[in-house]
Amino acid sequence: MDSPSSRALPNAEPLLRIENLGKKFYVKPGAFGTEVRTVHALEDVTIDVRRGETLSVVGESGCGKSTLGFSILQLLKPSEGSVTFEGTDLTQLSEKQMRRFRQKLQVVFQDPYATLNPRMTIGEVLAEPLLLHGLATKKTVRDKSVEMLGDVGLPTRVLSSYPHQLSGGQRQRVAIARALACDPEFIVCDEAVSALDVSVQAQIVNLLMSLQKKYGLTYLFIAHDLAVVRHMSDRVLVMYLGRPAELAPKKALFHEPLHPYTRALLSAVPEPDPERERNRRRQELVGEIPSPLNPPTGCRFHTRCPLAETVCSQKVPQWREAAPEHWVACHMVPETIQGEPS
Ligand SMILES: Nc1ncnc2c1ncn2[C@@H]1O[C@H](COP(=O)(O)OP(=O)(O)OP(=O)(O)O)[C@@H](O)[C@H]1O
Ligand code: SF4
Ligand SMILES: [Mg+2]
Repeated sequence: MDSPSSRALPNAEPLLRIENLGKKFYVKPGAFGTEVRTVHALEDVTIDVRRGETLSVVGESGCGKSTLGFSILQLLKPSEGSVTFEGTDLTQLSEKQMRRFRQKLQVVFQDPYATLNPRMTIGEVLAEPLLLHGLATKKTVRDKSVEMLGDVGLPTRVLSSYPHQLSGGQRQRVAIARALACDPEFIVCDEAVSALDVSVQAQIVNLLMSLQKKYGLTYLFIAHDLAVVRHMSDRVLVMYLGRPAELAPKKALFHEPLHPYTRALLSAVPEPDPERERNRRRQELVGEIPSPLNPPTGCRFHTRCPLAETVCSQKVPQWREAAPEHWVACHMVPETIQGEPS
């Protein structure tokens, strides 16, 4: 836990290399359905996650954000592709082999109440991972738990409390402390602040950022709120219906989005700069999100895209680096783009 590090540098060695990652679910629609249908929840995701960065993942509900996070952590077994962590492809490991990596790869969920055992005191909640991973002994576990609580801004007396005796913000602090107790390198924060009041949300976001600095943590930060994403991220990945649409450093993504879907998503967000806010052009997203049971051919966005041409429904756009550090999948974005701020 004592490895402070600076923020991720561009071109820094990735902590995780994710290549062509995909996940299909097989479902029988309806209570008495017999036909098995395929949910194309995640397809062909190729991204690096850099050591020490916050990579945010955004997109409409059902676009595969959680499936991406869980597939990286191997909490869901990917259908295709690889996830390389410290030279090992996690997708090839058995559950037993995966155990030694689990400690390093943690998750914090939206609703800690659902994941904290209501019958365990907070002391027991924190002691469990510390003892399991050999990070404390029976003698040192209390001191270590107090240290963890201090890290997340909670007093020692919380050790004897039960989850229902804490506020939502305090429970989320406990969930973060429990993840930290494993001495992780990578944490998936899946809507970790979405259910909290705005003021508590800001406190938890700031806590996550200071813990990142202190322990050199790397976050995959899944969120709906683009204002929070703007505050928190180094880079942002935009997903649409299970596929990556655009990935760029925060500044480039918010100021120079290349993908029509990103532009539509961002046009709904108020600009902090009054000058930019005056010039903000709204671009409504029309139409329903298609079903991942039967995704559109070619570019999955073509049924809603204002720029769609014939090629868009025929050919899947290639995922490519159109400008330095700026990845996009769209037929209408020129081959290479010069002089963009990053
Ligand atoms: N266990 C499952 N069985 C079948 N389909 C699933 C399963 N889990 C997820 N899906 C489907 O996969 C797609 C991606 O779901 P996912 O939960 O990853 O989306 P999301 O972007 O996290 O959405 P949200 O913003 O609502 O949390 C959705 O269409 C969802 O219905
Ligand atoms: S490939 Fe075509 S449909 Fe897809 S985003 Fe680009 S212009 Fe729109
Ligand atoms: Mg989700």
